This record gives sequence, structure tokens and C-alpha cells, in this order.
Amino acid sequence: MSTERVEADTVAFTVREGIAWVKFNRPEKRNCMSPRLNRQMMRVLEELEYRDDVGVLVLTGEGTSWSAGMDLKEYFRETEAKGLGAVRQAQREAYGWWRRLRWYQKPTIAMVNGWCFGGAYGPLFACDLAFAAEEAQFGLSEINWGILPGGGASKVVRELLSFRRAMYLALMGENIDGRTAAEWGLVNEAVPREKLEPRVTAVAKALLQKNPIALKATKDALRRVGEMTYDNAEDYLVRAQEAANFFDNEGRKEGIHQFIDAKSFKPGLGAYDKSRRHSGKP
Ligand code: COA
Repeated sequence: MSTERVEADTVAFTVREGIAWVKFNRPEKRNCMSPRLNRQMMRVLEELEYRDDVGVLVLTGEGTSWSAGMDLKEYFRETEAKGLGAVRQAQREAYGWWRRLRWYQKPTIAMVNGWCFGGAYGPLFACDLAFAAEEAQFGLSEINWGILPGGGASKVVRELLSFRRAMYLALMGENIDGRTAAEWGLVNEAVPREKLEPRVTAVAKALLQKNPIALKATKDALRRVGEMTYDNAEDYLVRAQEAANFFDNEGRKEGIHQFIDAKSFKPGLGAYDKSRRHSGKP
């Protein structure tokens, strides 16, 4: 029998001032992803997604690790011992919450505080933005123990990195630090560890000022258009904006009003005041 912490404790979260801080919470196992953690993470994401007091979700790790990837014992060895059905179930549970996070209702930020290996590239990519401690370490370690970078990890590095850099990481199994990860485009920025939470808090607070309907439409658009021709993207974006208008036509009109009539803000320099409601006039 495993002496592992109970399923409900594998993920921790708090909500403060509009920001949900969600943590991989198996520091003693470097936050590697077991089937239990994957199930619990889905529950937590589900619980937070449509809460009115949550505007941004930050995913980080307890202790010295963001996530050391898949749990080699519980996710690989123990499920493989139970047969193909168990393997496929464990995959669905992991990929399921990453997919949920990729298309999450609220903007998401990966706050990479430490180790980030292999399968952890799935949730890293699922988050819309990523900030790392300069001291964090990123690696595709699969080659070091004899598998290919699965669970989306190969796809993630092809999406985010140049072909040569992706190939180097995947074939060499060497780690890069947060600073290099930022230089390569795997994360947005790297800052000294003590500045990481303040920087992520500032970014989250800026996102909280934006129109939430526009944020969701925008994050989905940026993910979708990557695989479209220019013409298809143009058409998709027209329709996506028209669909967003259905949910929030007033916010968009108020934004135009504050710029064109009230002259109280400039869209090129910041967000409109979304606490003010549109009068109904054009
Ligand atoms: N799967 C299963 N167990 C893991 C794990 C993983 N991916 N990563 C860490 N652990 C466990 C260790 O087995 C150890 O367990 P124990 O205390 O019962 O012996 C515990 O977590 C602490 O790990 P340890 O290796 O002692 O910590 P460290 O700080 O010295 O090293 C790492 C950290 C991340 C460099 C190292 O744990 C490691 O290489 N992990 C595997 C990373 C990996 O290849 N992930 C890709 C999977 S797709």
C-alpha cells in the first residue's frame, strides 16, 4: 500500500481578490502527477471555473517544484500493471484536465516556481501565460528514462519553440533554466524567485481590469487561428466577435463611448472602466 496523501490533498487552492491560486500539492513527490492528483485537479478546475469571485486562475506548485511530470510509479508502473483499460483511463484523466484548462473560461497563468518536466509541459501550454523563476528548471527528461515525450509534450515544444530547440530538448534530455526558457519562448518572462509572485499578481490584476467576455473570446481565438488559413481565420474571428456580442454587446459599446465621446481613456494605453454601464445610446 502506498503511504501517499489522500486524493483531496493532492491539490490546494485559495481565492483572493479575484485570483484563484491553485497548487500542485505533492511537494514530497516534487508534485509529479498521479492519477489521484489528476482527478482532484479536474474537480478543483470544475469548482472554480464559473465562480463570480474568480477572474484569473494561477497554477503553481507547493515546495521546490512546479511539477516533475507524470508519476513514474503511480501513473506508469501501477496503471500498466492493471492493463490497457487502466492505462487509457489514466491518460483520459490527465489529458482531460489539461484540455479543460486549455479552453478554460477564465485567463490562466502558469507560475513556474521550480522543476518542470515532461508531462508538465501539458498544463504549462494549457495556461495562457507563463512566468518562471529564473532558478526554475525545464526539461524533457523522457529520453533519459527511455520513452518519447508523450502526453502532448512533443506537440507543446513544436508549438512554442523553434524546431531546432525543440529537437535539442527532446533528444538531449538536458535542462534549461527559467531565463533560457523565457529567451526561447517557452514562458513569457523569468524573474528572480522572490519577485515571481508579485509579478504574477500584477499581471493577474491587469487581466482583472479587462472585459471578461473579450478575454475568453481572445484566448480561444489565439489558440484556434494557429491551425487555420488566413481566410478561415478572418471568417472565424468575425463570427467569434459576433458571438461575443451576443453575451456582451453593452461592454463593447461602453468601451467605444468612453474613447470616442467621453474621451476618458485610450484603448492603445489601457482598458476602459468596465464598472460603468452603457447608457444604451450608440
Ligand atoms: N515520478 C515518481 N516519483 C517522483 C517523480 C516522478 N516523476 N519525481 C519525483 N519523484 C519522487 C522521488 O521518487 C522521491 O520519492 P521518495 O522520497 O519516496 O524516494 C521524491 O519524489 C523526491 O524526489 P527526489 O528525486 O529525491 O528529489 P530531488 O529534489 O533530489 O530531485 C527531480 C528532483 C525532479 C530532479 C527528480 O525527482 C527527478 O528527476 N524526477 C523525475 C523527473 C522526470 O523525469 N519526470 C518526467 C516524467 S514524464
